[in-house]
Amino acid sequence: MIPLLAIGFPLYPEQASTISQDVDMLFLFEMAVALFFTVVIFAAVFYFAIRYRRRSPDETTQPLHESHALEIAWTIFPLVVSMAMFGWAGWLYFKNSRPPVGSTELYVVGKQWMWKIQHPEGQREINEMHVPVGRPIKLIMTSEDVIHSYYLPAFRIKQDVIPGRYTTQWFQATKPGKYHLFCAEYCGTLHSAMGGWVYVMEPADYEAWLSGGATVGTMPATGEKIFQRLGCATCHVSQGGGRGPSLVDLFNKPVQMQDGSKVVADEGYIRESILNPNAKIVAGFQPVMPTFQGQVNEETLLQLIAYIKSLGKTEAQPAETAEPGKSKAPAKGPKAP
Ligand code: CUA
Repeated sequence: MIPLLAIGFPLYPEQASTISQDVDMLFLFEMAVALFFTVVIFAAVFYFAIRYRRRSPDETTQPLHESHALEIAWTIFPLVVSMAMFGWAGWLYFKNSRPPVGSTELYVVGKQWMWKIQHPEGQREINEMHVPVGRPIKLIMTSEDVIHSYYLPAFRIKQDVIPGRYTTQWFQATKPGKYHLFCAEYCGTLHSAMGGWVYVMEPADYEAWLSGGATVGTMPATGEKIFQRLGCATCHVSQGGGRGPSLVDLFNKPVQMQDGSKVVADEGYIRESILNPNAKIVAGFQPVMPTFQGQVNEETLLQLIAYIKSLGKTEAQPAETAEPGKSKAPAKGPKAP
């Protein structure tokens, strides 16, 4: 691996995540290819323009000769180069769109014009995000109003946040520090001011930060309170037998629908089921659930989802008793095998 900043020229933002160098290498390669062809093409343009210029007014064009070797060469060579770019970029894209199992999950909500971050342990931040170094962080993101884009240049990640759906992104910070956070999608008057800082901390400092400050309880615990307040529990009886399906051990599992299809109960499915319950009806149940549109905002939805995630294998230990800042259980959640 070449230390790209070794020459001291600030071509790139600081490299502070596990993929930073990979992204920069790809960028450098594409830059080199573009530069190479630019130089070759311009040199050829000038060379031919001078070498084969019209020398007298009555000079006519020479007959053209076809060269199959040349035709094949300039078809094959760019094909190989562009397929290399495609393969390399595809590999990097997939690597960067699949968070490792067991990543710490943080929830991000964008709105005009701020970023709201929730930690499963209950901490909430605005325009700041505290993360531990050396641990994979998965971001589950949405927007309250228009499209924004969560952009962390030092970590080489940028992902649009879109109203009405969840997008995810992950990174693993490699060194403690303070890094820029931007909105990278024009979103109105104060778009340029919609940013902040990411604080990458040593794990011990992060634990200390998590347990400091007043919190209202973990995300699953808050979600459970909302679940009770909205009366969800009257139909979604955890032992089953209610008017709605039990939500225990539901998250990330396939669910059989009335129309015969199967849907994986991910964040998007749960969100849709709360806001538009009749969109997908679970086999064996009636479309009797009212919509909760207008009664829950994006942050509340995420708390409800965090609660439903916690209703997995940890059901024996209710979310309420989870110690804020200590328990990592909600962060992991039940995962499909
Ligand atoms: Cu939000 Cu630009």
